[in-house]
Amino acid sequence: MKQDWKPGTMIYPLPAVMISCGSTPDEYNILTASWVGTICTNPPMCYVSVRPERYSYPILTRNMEFVINLTTEKLAYATDWCGVNSGKDYSKFEEMKLTPGKASLVKAPIIEESPLCIECRVKEVLALGSHDMFVAEVVNVQADTAFIDPNTGAFDMKRAGLLVYTHGKYYGLGDLIGTFGWSVRKKK
Ligand SMILES: Cc1cc2nc3c(=O)[nH]c(=O)nc-3n(C[C@H](O)[C@H](O)[C@H](O)COP(=O)(O)O)c2cc1C
Repeated sequence: MKQDWKPGTMIYPLPAVMISCGSTPDEYNILTASWVGTICTNPPMCYVSVRPERYSYPILTRNMEFVINLTTEKLAYATDWCGVNSGKDYSKFEEMKLTPGKASLVKAPIIEESPLCIECRVKEVLALGSHDMFVAEVVNVQADTAFIDPNTGAFDMKRAGLLVYTHGKYYGLGDLIGTFGWSVRKKK
């Protein structure tokens, strides 16, 4: 049996990423976001939805660039902290001992401690209601070589220990259940 619920945002699990923004060290800030995702494969595009009242909001609209830093179990504390404290009160990089690094193509810093940093350029900002959606093109990805298999060149997501967010709770990745297409693959 199912129960009707009032309309709400119930798509889970989601990532909880750290969005780094700003073009100079005094402007650098980090906003934790879960309203984030992929919207196109080619060209590679993604979005992040941000409330206009966030301290990060004018930094994003001024620069129209940001970095999506994937987070890990190790970064869970910093991820949560950056999501409940504001850059108007703290330098989040300093408080969380995170290292701003140089992105290859955008001015926003990468977070060195993140295993995968996705450099984005904003194409469009859609005012939706509580949140504005920043539709962005991915212009570069920086991957930590520590997680790249030297034989296959593949990035080991499992070993990176990526963080999962479901309705207010953080988890690590669970056991491997299958790989893309395994449900229809012929058994040898
Ligand atoms: C797990 C998590 C997910 C969040 N997702 C979003 C989001 O998608 N969009 C948003 O505007 N705020 C989101 N927040 C809230 C902001 O990260 C929070 O308001 C933060 O303090 C804003 O920082 P700022 O004032 O320095 O910009 C999230 C917070 C947490 C803890």
